Amino acid sequence: THCILIGAPVDSGKRRDGCLMGPDAYRVAGLGEQLTALGHSVEDRGNLIPDTPALPDDPHLHDLPTTVGWTRSLIRAAKEAASDGLPIFLGGDHALSLGSVAGMAEHAAAQGRPLFVLWLDAHSDFNTPQTTESGHLHGTPVAYVTGQPGFDAFPPLAAPVPTDRIAMIGLRSVDPAERAMLAETDIALTDMRAIDEHGIAGPLAAFLDKVQAANGLLHVSLDVDFLDPGIAPAVGTTVPGGATYREAHLVMEMLHDSGCLAGLDLVELNPFLDDRGRTASLMVDLTASLMGRRIFDRPTRSFA
Ligand code: ARG
Ligand code: MN
Ligand code: MN
Ligand code: MN
Repeated sequence: THCILIGAPVDSGKRRDGCLMGPDAYRVAGLGEQLTALGHSVEDRGNLIPDTPALPDDPHLHDLPTTVGWTRSLIRAAKEAASDGLPIFLGGDHALSLGSVAGMAEHAAAQGRPLFVLWLDAHSDFNTPQTTESGHLHGTPVAYVTGQPGFDAFPPLAAPVPTDRIAMIGLRSVDPAERAMLAETDIALTDMRAIDEHGIAGPLAAFLDKVQAANGLLHVSLDVDFLDPGIAPAVGTTVPGGATYREAHLVMEMLHDSGCLAGLDLVELNPFLDDRGRTASLMVDLTASLMGRRIFDRPTRSFA
């Protein structure tokens, strides 16, 4: 696979700064080297900069103009990269997915294939500019890319993602307004309780079956806070009770075996909060599993 690294030091999606250091932390943690070692070719396109739209500030929203600028430049970068290889967006906070997913959806539409999105996150990020209580636009990308109302300041969506092509896994922090809006959609929701009761493999396998049956392209958006804060402390929005080390690797291994992967966001890493690079290194290791690292080939001799 030709892997295209796109640094997107988006830090406008919330008040606490630090995600702008994410792209370089992934590079320092050896992302390129790991992908090369797995036999992939790697092209690092460096760090993007946001467009600068002439747009007034919104009193209710934190730094709307900068996030709109990022969305525009990311849509372009995603479309360009997706026609050349597998884009890996190095965040940057989750506001980057307003652009990466919208751009991937345009790319898929141009190929005549449906785009599916897997959202690995403690949060549903389904607020709109009207419903957000925090004013933090990193809590809104799924609402934008599915065409919910209220995003008039943003680029008009060329290819909205139908909600029945989205799955969220890892949920444990959902705002009341998000809960009400999600209930009106058919997004597949797997919260931490479901994972505790039944395991993480079942809901993921069901979603991947759907993607394969539709010959779809799959974009994966991995928020650091999907992981338990005990293994991944470097994120501003930690929520206790997240995915374990093995749950996270299993998700990545199953995604690799599906062969559907078309794009990846690595978001919300705040290296300023990290503990000797361990969160950056874990995210790099998870990406390696996603790209084919395995303990043994399947099936093994000892069990199915
Ligand atoms: N739901 C909260 C909000 O809208 C938290 C969102 C956190 N999102 C994230 N990408 N970490 O402010
Ligand atoms: Mn800020
Ligand atoms: Mn998120
Ligand atoms: Mn989150």
